[in-house]
Amino acid sequence: MAKVEWKTFLIPYEQAVEEIKIKLKSIRKEYRKRNEYSPIEFVTGRVKEVSSILEKANKCNIHIDKIGEQMEDIAGIRVMCQFVSDITKVVSIIRNRKDMEIMYEKDYVQNVKKSGYRSYHVIVKYTVNMAEGPKEILAELQIRTLAMNFWATIEHSLNYKYKKDIPEDIKKKLQAAADTAFQLDEQMLEIKDEIMDAQKLFEVKSSLISNILDNIASLISLGQISDAARCRIKLNVLIEKGEVLELNNLFEVTENLLGKEK
Ligand code: GTP
Ligand code: MG
Repeated sequence: MAKVEWKTFLIPYEQAVEEIKIKLKSIRKEYRKRNEYSPIEFVTGRVKEVSSILEKANKCNIHIDKIGEQMEDIAGIRVMCQFVSDITKVVSIIRNRKDMEIMYEKDYVQNVKKSGYRSYHVIVKYTVNMAEGPKEILAELQIRTLAMNFWATIEHSLNYKYKKDIPEDIKKKLQAAADTAFQLDEQMLEIKDEIMDAQKLFEVKSSLISNILDNIASLISLGQISDAARCRIKLNVLIEKGEVLELNNLFEVTENLLGKEK
């Protein structure tokens, strides 16, 4: 294929990666808006480089005309989770979607690869609406924890450096690091409720603080400057070490000053 043809070939894949990224990010946003815990921490995506597509086609004996049907990771999405238990939640969210059809799944979380690699892979069929009409493409979704991602990213760069021929001693160290990453995930799971409470508390406090700041701005615009200044000083103290209850009291004070009392 000529350069222009590659560019054209990749358009639906680029489109798909952008769309799927936005869709999964909005799931996170939705949870956040509802003040709920999100099983999705962050999402990344990429389209495979032409050189990597050619290299893989060569390695896997895929004819150039069959690349679209047989190479499933030209469009690649990664979903990072905080906890191992979030992975199943994300997979079931994907299973329930009407806009992507799961072709098959590979569970490298239960079936850890020999390298030490862990992740849950889902291959989906996704329809992109192009200028000329709908086009079906395949995309690979890799769902993993932050620890799994950390390990895989480092192992990947070492593979790149050693052209997939990592020296035995480094391989051993990587396997040991994979065990450590696994244990980190297990330990985090043990204090999951604790961590979730802390994050929830943070959310509640930041939303109270932002409501108080809004009210202070309203007080200023109404000319209640000294009230605003008093509340601002009080807020500064509470931002440092205030409890939810104290922040809530200050919020009520600003509401009353604005004459919003019920
Ligand atoms: P590929 O030819 O790499 O696509 O392998 P495959 O067709 O056998 O599929 P597999 O599910 O094993 O791997 C798909 C993708 O998962 C790879 O392209 C990597 O992004 C990732 N992956 C799989 N194994 C490893 C591994 O040992 N280390 C790292 N860092 N990533 C891996
Ligand atoms: Mg693959």
